[in-house]
Amino acid sequence: MNITVVGTGYVGLVTGTCFAESGHRVTCLDLDAAKIETLRGGGIPIYEPGLEELVRRNVKERRLSFTTSYPEAMKDADVAFIAVGTPPGENGDADLSYVLAAAREIGRHLTRYTVVVDKSTVPVGSADKVAEALREVTTQPFDVVSNPEFLKEGAAIDDFMRPDRVVVGVASERARAVMAELYAPFVRAEQPVLFMDLRSAELTKYAANAMLATRISFMNEIATLCEKLGADVDQVRRGIGSDRRIGHPFLFPGVGFGGSCFPKDVRAVMSMARHLGLDFDLLRAVERVNERQKRWLVEKAHKHFGTLAGRTFGVWGLAFKPRTDDMREAPAITVIEGLLAAGARVRAHDPVAAQVADGIFRGRGVTLVDEPYAAAEGADALLLVTEWNEFRQPDLARLKQLMAQPVLFDGRNVWDAAKVRAAGFTYYGVGRAA
Ligand code: UGA
Repeated sequence: MNITVVGTGYVGLVTGTCFAESGHRVTCLDLDAAKIETLRGGGIPIYEPGLEELVRRNVKERRLSFTTSYPEAMKDADVAFIAVGTPPGENGDADLSYVLAAAREIGRHLTRYTVVVDKSTVPVGSADKVAEALREVTTQPFDVVSNPEFLKEGAAIDDFMRPDRVVVGVASERARAVMAELYAPFVRAEQPVLFMDLRSAELTKYAANAMLATRISFMNEIATLCEKLGADVDQVRRGIGSDRRIGHPFLFPGVGFGGSCFPKDVRAVMSMARHLGLDFDLLRAVERVNERQKRWLVEKAHKHFGTLAGRTFGVWGLAFKPRTDDMREAPAITVIEGLLAAGARVRAHDPVAAQVADGIFRGRGVTLVDEPYAAAEGADALLLVTEWNEFRQPDLARLKQLMAQPVLFDGRNVWDAAKVRAAGFTYYGVGRAA
């Protein structure tokens, strides 16, 4: 099939590349000419393990190409994916203007029956608006499909190639057949394409992210209880996760969830409910707990040190999670801003997010260093914010020698409390006994 993908952000680029890898001819379109230049030259505008190699191979084998031109991208297209951004507006609603603009451009260049697929995360009812936008500009036949994305940054290729499920909202048999063929290489009998109506598919995306965010805030509340009660959250986590009805994933307490999806989608669901005269109380609490959790490290530091003014803190990890350079709504921002506001100095290291962090913290009293141990030099305490693998087995003797005081705040519970205490450190974990 000939596939067009509009938007070469995270979702668009991964989607286009993976479809090319499965043998289709894919044209990715973006209005940002600099981005398209980079991609044509074999560069990748985002950090995602394995993606660069896959892009290069498919470009070389002429299954994948990049353009800024709609006529070129839409020539012979069987399927056109819309994968542009839906940034939150002032009131938390997703802004549909990029999606509708892309729909209109696609519509203007339709030459025959085409399936137009919404991959962006859009409010329920958007497929109808996309269809309306198309109808305004074309008389060619088309179907609109909702196909939300469940990729995790840092594991996106694997999530796309071996999905737990593919959700497809359709309103016609013809579109259903096209989507079934498209996803056939990626699904198995036990992990099928779930066909459903358009609105249910749109809501599934939000419901999944809101549920996962709820699990995380729930565990962060349990962690707070553990600290007060002298229980250990790791043991409680294992205890409840073994119940198959609950399951183990996404029960890790920490410094709060961040990224471009969970915080935005939680707010979007609340906003959708509000428009309908409903109050999604539960998600309000999820958000409140998350805001509090992002302040956990700094509060612990206050409790330990009293005043933080004039102290130096080392920070390990800045990205909102490992294996990405994405710092959107990253808890590290709240942590570092809290330390700076209290008059402390910060030395921070992240394996890949330093450049992004520089854009956020430049001129604000944060020293970004290239190497983890340089962040600990002269520090009164070291704070682990993002659980990159390289932080999991620190050289404790070296840390102790470098730091002004041997104090560790483990925002992700990755260190062995007994071991670091035996090495002479004061250790704080989330939901772990002090
Ligand atoms: C999330 C979803 O997991 C994807 O399925 C979805 O496609 C994506 O949003 C999206 O809507 O585009 P992502 O934001 O890449 O993916 O990252 P996650 O791995 O879900 O992590 C989100 C945040 O939750 C991170 O800050 C992470 O540290 C935190 N988290 C995750 C926890 O604090 N505890 C956990 O147990 C799991």
